[in-house]
Parts: sequence; C-alpha cells; structure tokens
Amino acid sequence: MQTMREIVPTPPSVIRNDVASVQNLFQKHVVPSYGRFDIVLSHGLGSYVHDVTGKRYLDLGAGIAVNALGHAHPAITEALIEQSRRLVHISNFYYHESQGRLAQRLVQLIGPGKVFFGNSGVEANEGLFKLARKFGHDEGRFEIITTINSFHGRTLAGIAATGQEKVRKGFEPLVPGFRQVPYNDLEAMREAISPATIAIMVEGIQGEGGVTPAPPEYLLGLRRLCNEHKLLLFMDEVQAGHFRTGRFQSYQRILEGISGAEDFLPDAVSMAKSLGGGFPMGAFWVRAPYADLLGSGTHGTTYGGSPLGCTVALKVLEVIDKEKLADNARKVGTLLKEGLQCLQRKYPSIIRNVRGLGLMIGLELAPDIANLPGDATRTQAVRFANLLHAAGVLTIPAGAQILRLLPPLNLSEDDAKQGLKIIEQVASGLV
Ligand SMILES: Cc1ncc(COP(=O)(O)O)c(C=O)c1O
Repeated sequence: MQTMREIVPTPPSVIRNDVASVQNLFQKHVVPSYGRFDIVLSHGLGSYVHDVTGKRYLDLGAGIAVNALGHAHPAITEALIEQSRRLVHISNFYYHESQGRLAQRLVQLIGPGKVFFGNSGVEANEGLFKLARKFGHDEGRFEIITTINSFHGRTLAGIAATGQEKVRKGFEPLVPGFRQVPYNDLEAMREAISPATIAIMVEGIQGEGGVTPAPPEYLLGLRRLCNEHKLLLFMDEVQAGHFRTGRFQSYQRILEGISGAEDFLPDAVSMAKSLGGGFPMGAFWVRAPYADLLGSGTHGTTYGGSPLGCTVALKVLEVIDKEKLADNARKVGTLLKEGLQCLQRKYPSIIRNVRGLGLMIGLELAPDIANLPGDATRTQAVRFANLLHAAGVLTIPAGAQILRLLPPLNLSEDDAKQGLKIIEQVASGLV
C-alpha cells in the first residue's frame, strides 16, 4: 500500500516565477471571456493557496464556493486515485453503484424524489427548465418566472433566466419563456403569474447578485402561490447549498424553526459547485410526483454521474458528516460575520453592510471610498480585492460594490481570525 506522501508528494513552495509567461499564454491562446486578477496559482493545501512567486493566500473564495474541503484534501485525492484505478467513466447506457448511492444520499438529505446528474450548475438548471416545459407542455404552459439580480448560469436559457442585464447584453434574442420580478417581493411574483406560467425559480440566497438571503415568509409564500396556481417551485442552490449555511440547502437553514415550514419542500433543487468538492459536477433533485416526468430518451449528458465524480461526491459528503462541517460552517460563519460587522462599525466609511448565512457572507463596501487605490475604471470591489490579494487573502467580487466570502467548510477559527485581521489591516489603511 502506497502512502499519501508517495502518491502526492508535497509540491515545492516556489515552482517558477513565471507570471508573465503564463499570462502571455492566456493572452495568445485563451478566449478572453473572463476578467482575471494578476495572480498565477500553483498549488494549495487546506484553506491556503500559493502562487508561482511563492506568495501564500488565505483562500476565502474557495473557487466560488467549490472547494468545500479546501485544497488537496487527502480524502478527495485518495478517492480520485483509488476510483481512477477501477473506472473513471462509463456511459449512462450502464449502471454503476456510486451513482445510485449518491442519488440515494441526496434524496435522504432533501426529501422523497429522484436525482439527475450533469456537470455544472447551469446544466442542472437547464434540466429543470426542460422539466418545466415537459410538465406544462400539453396545457401550453411554458413560462418560468425568476427574479431580478438572480444568477442561473451562462447558457442561452441560463442568461434568459438570469435577472442581470450585463450577462445578456449582446446575446439577444433571448430564449423565450422567462420573466423577472423583484426578489423577495411576493406581490410582484403573484402579479406576474399568467396563464402561461409553469414554474418559479429562485435562489435561497442570491449569490452573484450580492449575497441577499430570502426571508422565510417569502419562501413559504412562494410555496403557497405555486400550490394555488399548479406551478413548480425550483430552488437554485448551486452556490448557497451543500451545507454552506449550516444545513444541506439554504432554504432548510432559512426555514429552520419557523412554524408552518416543517413540511416545506420545493419541487426541484439544482446543485453543483461544492457537490464534487472541485470535481466538476452538477445535479438536480426532483420531488416524487414529478420524478419520472423526464422519461427514457428525453434528457441526458455523456459525462453525467460518472463513477469518478460520484465517488468523489460521496466522499465529500462523508467528510462533511464525519468532521461535522455543517456545524463548523455555522460556528466559523458566525465568527466571521460578527467580526466583519465589528469592522463595519469601526470603519463605516469603508464597509457599508455585512450579510449572509454561515460561510456565505457578503461584504458591501461604502460608496466612493476616498483613498481606494487602483485603476479608477475598475469597480471598487475589484480594487478592494486587489488590496486584499496584496495582503494575502482571496475573496470573490459580486457586482461593483460587494465582496463574497465563500471559504472552505472546514475553515478553522484561527484562519478565520487571521482573515479578519488582514481585512482590518486593509480597511484601516484606507481611512
Ligand atoms: C446560483 C447559481 N446558479 C447557477 C450557476 C451556474 O453554475 P455553473 O457556473 O457551474 O454553470 C451559478 C454560478 O455561479 C450560481 O451561483
């Protein structure tokens, strides 16, 4: 039996100081669809990543809520290695055990229903859009109502569902059948329902839109509206799900202890990001009465639910359970949020607001921070993130004014305190 050290030798702390040459490769050969920071990463361990110059960063972004167990977690590495020795991929013409076991686990965590596996968040949402179309087809109902500032992904249907002008601009005409109303506004949702409406899709916490949680009464109201009008209620939990808030899905956390919410279930839930802990995976769960709507031959994807992906996803769930990472997300999330709220009180000219649940936290910057250095054509969020990078912390911008903290679920209290210290250092340097 090989030891982990033999299988995965510790990488050198400095690989090569070749920032410019890597950037040059990208400029020449990679489609420039992303705005990137001037950082070339080489390796990571736990909640830290290193760049090629040897600089270490506390990773409070975790690949946009993906690296649930941090970097190079031995359980993930081992699962990848062991499973890849047996079966990496088979087609969905055949059965394999881990897809069935992962689906069973997700059903246990959400409720009676079934699961479809894909490769990404937007693909999970696409599956739900097709489910809605199938459900409403014979009655001529097809319209899906989503919310302003939502984010549901970058495919053509994904951008039509997304309530942000900037993601759609230049890609019109949009896929028909999507309409947006203000988030957390039940009356607006009620008024928008038409005879053509078939489904409502919302995030439990809007992520890209700036970390805005839904209040419990909104979710309960949406459930009632859907029941009254025979609509499907879809929760997009791609970013907020997978125990980030302290419960498996964010709606479960939001509705915790709320009377009348005991039996709340959406009709479907989309998942991705943390599901594979870094291995690209997406999935949707669909409630029992609708679970067989997408029958044989109606939907599919080559890589969905591969032996490798499902084995890793099962391992991620096992580690979250064993190491009580849902509790950790609550505990360390509270520490981080309260620490940031303290900084907000101390530096009101820098930090305007702090919000979120568990380890999904939004830090809203004050408008027009006077001494914020950097290229004035870039947003405040990007310029503040650059200062944090220089000080050794990674965060994820959301819009022009907000930075997201979406760290690994196993972030330690000490590392959270270290992050707060660095954020304070940057904030205090601006007043
Ligand atoms: C709520 C939500 N839905 C869908 C997506 C799309 O996921 P993916 O980028 O994996 O397609 C994202 C990505 O950020 C998201 O935050």
